[in-house]
Amino acid sequence: MNPSPTKKLLFVATTCAVLICCTFAVLLFFNNFSPKWTAPPFLAAINNSKSVETKKKPIVLLWFWPLGVHFDFKECSRVHNIDGCILTDDKSLYNEAEGVIIFHKGISRDLSNLPRSPRPGFQRWIWYHVESPTNTAKIPGLENLFNLTLSYRKDADITVRNELTIRPKDMKDDFVLPKKDKLVCWVVSNHDHHTGTAVRENYYHELSKHIAIKLYGTAFTSRRLSYDDYYATISRCKFYLSFENSVHRDYITEKINGPLCAGTIPVVLGPPRANYEVFYPSSAFIHINDFPDAKSLADHLHFLDKNDEAYMKYFEWRKHYTVSRHVLTLQEEFVQPVCLACDFVAKNKEYREMHGLYDWYFS
Ligand SMILES: *[C@@H]1O[C@H](CO)[C@@H](O)[C@H](O)[C@H]1NC(C)=O
Ligand SMILES: *[C@@H]1O[C@H](CO)[C@@H](O)[C@H](O)[C@H]1NC(C)=O
Repeated sequence: MNPSPTKKLLFVATTCAVLICCTFAVLLFFNNFSPKWTAPPFLAAINNSKSVETKKKPIVLLWFWPLGVHFDFKECSRVHNIDGCILTDDKSLYNEAEGVIIFHKGISRDLSNLPRSPRPGFQRWIWYHVESPTNTAKIPGLENLFNLTLSYRKDADITVRNELTIRPKDMKDDFVLPKKDKLVCWVVSNHDHHTGTAVRENYYHELSKHIAIKLYGTAFTSRRLSYDDYYATISRCKFYLSFENSVHRDYITEKINGPLCAGTIPVVLGPPRANYEVFYPSSAFIHINDFPDAKSLADHLHFLDKNDEAYMKYFEWRKHYTVSRHVLTLQEEFVQPVCLACDFVAKNKEYREMHGLYDWYFS
């Protein structure tokens, strides 16, 4: 028996209605409910732990304030754009600290003021020292204690120096030689021979027999040059004596950075020229060893004083590099090394042991 046409029609209509309803249901489900779908707890947990882990900053503990000088740790993000760790001087956080910065000059000879409790397995001790070997007390017991070094040495784990940077292509060199009214200048405050200064003083005395040298600072004059006057003063000199207090590899300090910033030619006394050339273009400075004696150096300076073209050759490095002012106060001086240590601990997690600290430092 064949179904009547009416029944046929009813069947088709019912099927269609069911299909349409299903489609709506599915659409409704995805439109309305799908976005409200929440991750099962195990997924959320995995996700959460991961995001917390990437956000957690390591604690870096400054064990002593360098020479007792305090500064605001916020300077790291404000001045140096370094924000990768939590810096603290709170010794109660010792057990959580991933890095402990220990200022060499603050360590007592019997080591009694070093951390006493056992060192957590993840913790690294950072030896912070920026004096030259001549001015470094060999405190016994430190040779195999540290994990990282923070020093001016190029081969330290964390190197702190005033460095030139490559001039960006779009930054024009608009250098104009500052007005000069003095020939050779020297700002010097330390003449304690125990710190190694005899070498540079002898050279200065010899040189001063052949050329006029204008002195500033408390070593040979009664007046301290104020920080505010430092750059302006040396910019008025054609040459500046960048004489280090002691002669050691890589020990090339702000004494050369100052004149380079100020637009003055540095005359350097320190490690050999080749060592300077690791950090500075060869034609940016005059090395005392370029001349057999102080008189020949004085002759060359007199020659440059009278020959502008030859004099200006010493500033050509500026086309390729830029130099930035170094900090002048003690507070500021300690900020950068501590920030660099923070940055290093945040970015480098490797296990490290430092053996033979003094063999390295005094080599
Ligand atoms: C996982 O985290 C990311 C961003 O951290 C977030 O966009 C995503 O919705 C999270 N997933 C779950 C399942 O919670
Ligand atoms: C740090 O150095 C000490 C001394 O050599 C060593 O015992 C310790 O395991 C080192 N720790 C890390 C995290 O490098």
